[in-house]
Amino acid sequence: MSIELKTPDEIEIMAKAAKLVAETLQALKKEIRPGITTGELDRLAEDFIRSRGGVPAFKGYRSYPNTLCASVNEQVVHGIPSKRALRQGDIIGLDLGAIVEGFYGDSAVTLAVGTIHPKAAELLRVTEEALNKGIEQAVVGNRLSDISHAIQRHAEAAGFSVVMDFVGHGIGRQLHEDPQVPNYGQPGQGPRLQVGMVLAIEPMVNMGGSGVRILEDRWTAVTQDGSLSAHFEHTIAIQPSGPARILTKL
Ligand code: MF3
Ligand code: CO
Repeated sequence: MSIELKTPDEIEIMAKAAKLVAETLQALKKEIRPGITTGELDRLAEDFIRSRGGVPAFKGYRSYPNTLCASVNEQVVHGIPSKRALRQGDIIGLDLGAIVEGFYGDSAVTLAVGTIHPKAAELLRVTEEALNKGIEQAVVGNRLSDISHAIQRHAEAAGFSVVMDFVGHGIGRQLHEDPQVPNYGQPGQGPRLQVGMVLAIEPMVNMGGSGVRILEDRWTAVTQDGSLSAHFEHTIAIQPSGPARILTKL
């Protein structure tokens, strides 16, 4: 495993890619309502990124067909945009990446479509909190699994489970770099966190069991038990001191 440390100049470029991702997600958020299709959201995302000089990061990555991953309800990640219309009460995960000047940004949010069940709202809140708990651990001197542990602990304390089949990742000139960032584990393991590390931290949290399976389309991951799943992701940079810089936050 070799972790590519980024220089301050490289991190400024990554901040541009990350900002474009964040702005695109913000634009998509305004379009979320019953009736809009995930395919329409994908088109909006691609147009938004290209109009600002970026390149969609996922389209063509391992033959993934679209700009956006749009994962509804029991879909965990990698939902392929389609003619499926959102309905009141759904939750939708939007996962997006962009390339600017050769560097990647990657972020995801899960949103409510209209009014959702209180338990679903709790799942969204706890998953975003778990991401933030992980980010709080992303400081110089900690070890990688301190991030993982904080995420798992928060999700499980709320009675939910973390998905173990997908992980966060280093990010830079490639979408997926070392190290892998699991959303579970004992603290105090793995590499020490250093200035120049840029990580995409991305907990996936299920209301029921942690098991997932992949649909026939070979991409869409769904919960084995059909329970709801939420996903939040930020691209962050470890700072010389103090808390990480969240590059995908506006
Ligand atoms: N955020 C996800 C990841 O880091 C999205 C990748 S989707 C893919 O893996 F299509 F690009 F694979
Ligand atoms: Co990612």
